[in-house]
Amino acid sequence: MSIESTLVLVKPDGLKRRLTGEIIQRLERKGLNIVAMKMLKLTKEQAEVHYSVHKGKPFFPGLVEFITSDPLIAMVVKGHSAISVVRNLVGATDGAKASPGTIRGDFAITIDKSVIHASDSVESFEHECPIYFSTDEILDFSYGDEELF
Ligand code: PPS
Repeated sequence: MSIESTLVLVKPDGLKRRLTGEIIQRLERKGLNIVAMKMLKLTKEQAEVHYSVHKGKPFFPGLVEFITSDPLIAMVVKGHSAISVVRNLVGATDGAKASPGTIRGDFAITIDKSVIHASDSVESFEHECPIYFSTDEILDFSYGDEELF
């Protein structure tokens, strides 16, 4: 079993649409552990670091503006194959194409208001996580019910 950590954001649109509880519930019910969580308003500088791989793409300025427009919820989510498991729960980038049953499939209909972000690889997690959390904010915590999943 490969235990991984992934960074999940409830983006400003998801927060303002009161979807935080729904998203946390889906992550928890899947058997994943939340080991860090905070609400913050990202700065332009932080957003540009987070999305630096997309710098130069046409959507980059709008993405930075959107992600910094209002507060968001950041979480570190840990569990078995957490990176791919969470990406599957999130669904395709474009809400119009995301499968029903996924978070974007159920709650997003455009590509620019995508409700949630999740790291797409270990390397992405390692790049993104320090923007949101110091190492002492990530708890060595287990819900203690892992044998039930
Ligand atoms: S790409 O082009 O394949 O690298 O893009 P992708 O990895 O699918 O998406 C990277 C993040 O950029 C967001 N995105 C957009 N935002 C606004 N408008 C457009 N057209 C657009 N295309 C991609 C997308 O939601 C991804 O955000 P995160 O936060 O990583 O999910």
